[in-house]
Amino acid sequence: GKAGYDWFMLKEIDEQPQAVADTLLGRLGERGEIVLDEVRISDEDLRGITKIFVIACGTAYHAGLIAKYAIEHWTRIPVEVELASEFRYRDPVLDRSTLVVVISQSGETMDTLMAVRHAKEQQARVLAICNANGSTIPRESDAVLYTRAGPEVAVASTKGFLTQVVACYLVGLFLAQVRGLKYEDEVAAVVAELRKLPDQVREVLAGMDEVRELGRSLATESTILFLGRHVGYPVALEGALKLKELAYIHAEGFAAGELKHGSIALVGAGTPVIVVVPSPHGRESLHGKVVSNIQEVRARGARTIVIAEEGDDDVLPYADHVIRVPRTPTLLAPVVTTVPLQILACEIADTRGLDVDMPRNLAKSVTVE
Ligand code: M6R
Repeated sequence: GKAGYDWFMLKEIDEQPQAVADTLLGRLGERGEIVLDEVRISDEDLRGITKIFVIACGTAYHAGLIAKYAIEHWTRIPVEVELASEFRYRDPVLDRSTLVVVISQSGETMDTLMAVRHAKEQQARVLAICNANGSTIPRESDAVLYTRAGPEVAVASTKGFLTQVVACYLVGLFLAQVRGLKYEDEVAAVVAELRKLPDQVREVLAGMDEVRELGRSLATESTILFLGRHVGYPVALEGALKLKELAYIHAEGFAAGELKHGSIALVGAGTPVIVVVPSPHGRESLHGKVVSNIQEVRARGARTIVIAEEGDDDVLPYADHVIRVPRTPTLLAPVVTTVPLQILACEIADTRGLDVDMPRNLAKSVTVE
């Protein structure tokens, strides 16, 4: 049941701190190492990997886009991320030294399953990141890393997504550890940060009343734009997808650096623009560029809603609303920055009188191609 919540989605959003903790449980060792005994691909095979594909659909694809930033940084293995429905029909270049990571909450998505079969035919190793135990995709893959989010009932994926992102971090760090590359030292440091994530998500959730209020004020909008850069870009795409599927509002996510190449033409007086700001403690230029983007859209009349780290006051002059998230390393930030976007979409849809858990035209798992 909904345990007192109006919607399963709200319940599942609130379950995220526990879901993230469960995904990490037993997988972070005492010496800051990653323990993934369940990934039954030999160390020798893992050391021989020369290329990684990450394949998924919808929200899971956004988790895959985040994975690319993390895995390439930690392992120096090239990563390509692709929609399952495109991958199969494109004649991708795969062989024995390719690792294909497929991500699927349900484990039953037909497009993703077909990609698994295609990859196996080409002799690639297939690792599934999956939530539903014993579902088809993990059964057909060489190895599986379960996300342990528990059953997700709402059509819109929330805890499924957050735990997929965390599982991708584990895969990236594990590969870095097995391969002993120069980023290995970083593994222990990142592990310490991963341990903080459940409490940090809890902290974000504790501040969500204001975000719900903000959501109510956006319910009559016809277009809402999302901007992000680096890992904030897939978060922007995810925020836009949530809003489309739940509130039926035209929403688009953009890479902030692309604004000037076209999309800024969409910004007019009062256009809501939601900006995911990178940590000011990460690469300074990255933070500064996004702050200038906020300034640019505001100068063209946008109503700016800014998701920024605690203490980041550089955004204040240009933000109509600031949503605060705790300080994390840049690569881990999506785990906290996505949460307010889920709440916003849910609240906007609810205010519009829509069925948040069962949006029109959608099914929880898409078992046709
Ligand atoms: O079960 P899967 O993770 O394979 O599902 C993939 C997509 O169908 C799914 O993420 C979809 O985009 C959700 N409705 C997003 O909220």
